[in-house]
Amino acid sequence: MNKNLLKTQNKNKSFYFIANWKMQLTLNEESNFVDLNLQNFKKLSSKKNIQIILCPSFLNIRSLSKLFKSTNIKIGAQNCSSHIKGAYTGQISAQSLSDTYCQYCIIGHSECRKEYKESNNEIFKKFESLISQNISPIICIGENLEENKSGRTLDILEKQLVEIFKYLLKRNENKVNKVKILIAYEPIWAIGTGITPTINSLNKTFAWLKQQTKNIPFINWKLLYGGSVNSKNVFDLKQINNLSGFLIGGSSLDFQEFEKVVIL
Ligand code: PGA
Repeated sequence: MNKNLLKTQNKNKSFYFIANWKMQLTLNEESNFVDLNLQNFKKLSSKKNIQIILCPSFLNIRSLSKLFKSTNIKIGAQNCSSHIKGAYTGQISAQSLSDTYCQYCIIGHSECRKEYKESNNEIFKKFESLISQNISPIICIGENLEENKSGRTLDILEKQLVEIFKYLLKRNENKVNKVKILIAYEPIWAIGTGITPTINSLNKTFAWLKQQTKNIPFINWKLLYGGSVNSKNVFDLKQINNLSGFLIGGSSLDFQEFEKVVIL
């Protein structure tokens, strides 16, 4: 298909662009980055078929929620506690996030699974508390290189999602709060490495994910890709079938680069 035709097709699709700033900037640096690009962010977010979600550090969530309140930009957190309340020093509950008007929350990021030894069961509990607070979970899943090479990708993804799917299947339509649920497929070997899977293999993975989510049709599912998304590969990545958007780390820290990722 010719590139101009694909470009028009890309423009007609609607995509989520979720900026995961991780702990790359200090609180002041994040605020300066936003101040410097405030009008640019607002302009970018007003484009058709685009939803931008910024995930700053916990400490900036409340102020950015206020700053972008009457705009099309939404604010998300990068993690939350699996507990509702109690003696959990240093943790932040889903309810506290809701108090800061945060509308999305990343859970199960591979960096958290590794660094804090988060289990699938713990991630499921985070999922449950977010749903109870009407916060949309962005569930990160993905295999490591060895699992990928040995053809076990879908088995790993299934293990990471099974508890969440079981829970949703047991609840009926009316009992699940009407929040969107986002699944971000992020192969661990693609995060921050500059390497991405082939479009062919991504099409297969997303076809499988789509099939799984079809079993729970009353949920508004969004399927995202994450891992080394940049202005050079995003045009091709936008061709993945069944894709609703991207979770973006490094490329979200430079406004010009982020803008290209959104508009290309
Ligand atoms: P990256 O990070 O875009 O820098 O690869 C993505 C992520 O970790 O969510």
